[in-house]
Amino acid sequence: MKTIHICMGSSCFARENRENLKVIEEYLRTKGLSESVHIEGSLCMGECSKGPNLSINGNPYHEVHSEDLPAILDKELLQL
Ligand code: FES
Repeated sequence: MKTIHICMGSSCFARENRENLKVIEEYLRTKGLSESVHIEGSLCMGECSKGPNLSINGNPYHEVHSEDLPAILDKELLQL
């Protein structure tokens, strides 16, 4: 199962991960992936200055803005 770790530390959450989480959930719903991709909130990843941070399949992404997410998710989740 693929896993998305999204930083829910206060810095990332305030920056944009609150919005990003909604975008990810919506993306998974639309693509029918809600059952096959696990979203896990993580505590501060120790890289607040590069936030908002998340990682997908162990690949870290920094300064993730909601408009970048569809391309990132396509790349990580739709390609084998
Ligand atoms: S709050 Fe996300 S890295 Fe610190």
